[in-house]
Amino acid sequence: MQRPPSPRLPEGLPTRVKVVEVGPRDGLQNERQYVPASIKVDLINRLGRSGLTAIESASFVSPKWVPQMADGHEVMQSINRVRGTTYSALTPNMKGFEAAMRAGADEVVIFGAASEAFSHRNINCSIAESTQRFEPVASAAKAAGLRLRASVSCALGCPYQGEVSIDAVRDVVARFADLGCDEIDIADTIGVGTAGRVQEVMDAAASAFRLDGLAGHFHDTYGQALANILASLEVGVSTFHSSVAGLGGCPYAAGATGNVATEDLLFLLHGLGIETGVNLDDVVDAGAFISGALGRQGASRVGNALLAKRANLCDNTG
Ligand code: HMG
Ligand code: MG
Repeated sequence: MQRPPSPRLPEGLPTRVKVVEVGPRDGLQNERQYVPASIKVDLINRLGRSGLTAIESASFVSPKWVPQMADGHEVMQSINRVRGTTYSALTPNMKGFEAAMRAGADEVVIFGAASEAFSHRNINCSIAESTQRFEPVASAAKAAGLRLRASVSCALGCPYQGEVSIDAVRDVVARFADLGCDEIDIADTIGVGTAGRVQEVMDAAASAFRLDGLAGHFHDTYGQALANILASLEVGVSTFHSSVAGLGGCPYAAGATGNVATEDLLFLLHGLGIETGVNLDDVVDAGAFISGALGRQGASRVGNALLAKRANLCDNTG
């Protein structure tokens, strides 16, 4: 049986959380079969109607590196924008930034790594070189009045080099802070982080950037994402990324699964009495839509349970 929301929040947790939906980008970028732009647009529109106020919608990277995202312009130009919702796009360099501007992105996302090995594999340059590439993007974003977000990949481990030091994470966060970022995501690209380490990393990140600008981006490969989110809430982080139906992975992190599912994140937050402004049922519908379009069952436990309940396929009274 679904538990009613807690009568009061556990002490110290934020009362409201911003959920950043990354399924249309982080989720779909890893799909081998081409997902037509019309399906991407339909998905983003459904997510927009659910009350989500931040939707990562496209990626202006090299189409040779990530072919699935080659239709970003068409997607961003075709969506029905909900007033007050931020539609963001990844921009690794000025070429990507200019494309994002033409497509009408509200927020651009620069993405680096706390691991040298991953930086080379993902964006073909060192961490220091990536900062140089991001400088003009950051200045141009500010000049154009766009929000600037940054992502720190491999903050809890790297598929190529293994361990990543907390100092390395703090260093990259400080570089992004110097670039004038509005928000910085601490990303567990391969989902290996566990709760205690996540708190140490978040504390270190908070020593280099304001806590209310930090976000958690947890892939759920090892099933730790919800525990890591709760651990992050305890240190005061109040923005989390998630992917509808648990879509995704990373093309440069073999075996990594998608981000924590948005349905699962909402169930946790709402159960704690934390406001999100997002309608869980609408997200479940969006998850069913994209899973149907991809021809498979979604990866959200909550989504699947609620769909089964709706279909009367299981007795959820126990
Ligand atoms: P490069 O080969 O070093 O770049 O790639 P280059 O400047 O030498 O250019 C090579 C070719 O790419 C040229 O085309 C450029 O025009 C083109 P050619 O002359 O050969 O025909 N090019 C571009 N085309 C379109 N848009 C652009 C662009 N830039 C160059 N913006 C580059 C460097 C960064 C472009 C490349 O490595 C790349 O595209 N990487 C993308 C990697 C990626 O998208 N990874 C997944 C997203 S990150 C992620 O998922 C992690 C995250 O979720 C957090 C987490 O979980 O960790 C955010
Ligand atoms: Mg990711």
